Amino acid sequence: MPAPVRKAVIPAAGLGTRFLPVTKAIPKEMLPIVDTPTIQLVVDEAARAGIRDVIVVNGRGKGAIEDHFDHAYELEHTLRSRGKTADADALAAITHLVRIISVRQLQPLGLGHAVLCAREAVGDEPFAVLLGDDLIIDRGRPGIGQLADVHAATGAGVIAIMEVAAGQEHLYGVVAGDWSDGRLRVREMVEKPKPGTAPSRWAIVGRYVLPPSIWPLLAATRPGHGGEIQLTDALRELAASPDGLYGVVIDGERHDAGDKLGYLRANLAYAIARAELREPVLAMMRDLLETSG
Ligand code: UTP
Repeated sequence: MPAPVRKAVIPAAGLGTRFLPVTKAIPKEMLPIVDTPTIQLVVDEAARAGIRDVIVVNGRGKGAIEDHFDHAYELEHTLRSRGKTADADALAAITHLVRIISVRQLQPLGLGHAVLCAREAVGDEPFAVLLGDDLIIDRGRPGIGQLADVHAATGAGVIAIMEVAAGQEHLYGVVAGDWSDGRLRVREMVEKPKPGTAPSRWAIVGRYVLPPSIWPLLAATRPGHGGEIQLTDALRELAASPDGLYGVVIDGERHDAGDKLGYLRANLAYAIARAELREPVLAMMRDLLETSG
């Protein structure tokens, strides 16, 4: 039986150019969904799947992420002295979600390179990778837990996939292969295919469970699309190796918070999912629609 997935890697060293100027000094992963940084939502997903160690790959100016998961004694103390016990407890709980381990990617050489920076911290066991761009509102079992279940059953690498609209394939890593037991045995993989050349409409979503055999494959990966070391290129090798690779459609509502429109949509979706915000936010949206003509 494969070892359980106990560690997760969250790459957070990208430049976040699509969100400039806010990402000049703040990492994209700290952008809030309503009042919670995206990285906290992702860490919470990992924690609910039983993951206890989270390796955050930091880049330039990423101190905000470390601070966010650290104790904030003064702030907590001030809140308690003002009688805001629930707020202080909520802050303290963030620190206890998981154990955060920070590693550094000195240069943003690509997602594959960022994951490789976590090699020593992860070691010789299967691990999860979660990207803060993709948010999943699940229906009970966390998204990454659903992938871990397939890894436990097969020992293979597992990636989340979704069917994208025709014409959108060039924005994603795209996979093709054979379906059985509700999962795709990946045979083919292309990073951001040129329009009209995609092998399918099945796109990779930012959740992965990888066996340790990925490490030498990643280490051997040379710069690919966009001059970056692409995780997709190492995954293609994994798919062709004895461990193999499966694509799984996660049961849940996925939000792409990686570009401006998707980010705004995610904020509204998370807001109306909260009982105290639902009605006022819907009323605000109706009002905006009426007054914007
Ligand atoms: P993205 O391509 O979405 O992030 O990478 P980016 O490069 O920061 O964004 P744009 O395109 O410039 O707006 C996916 C994930 O991989 C991380 C990013 O932080 C993001 O979570 N990443 C990417 C790294 O950690 N290091 C890299 O060298 C590249």
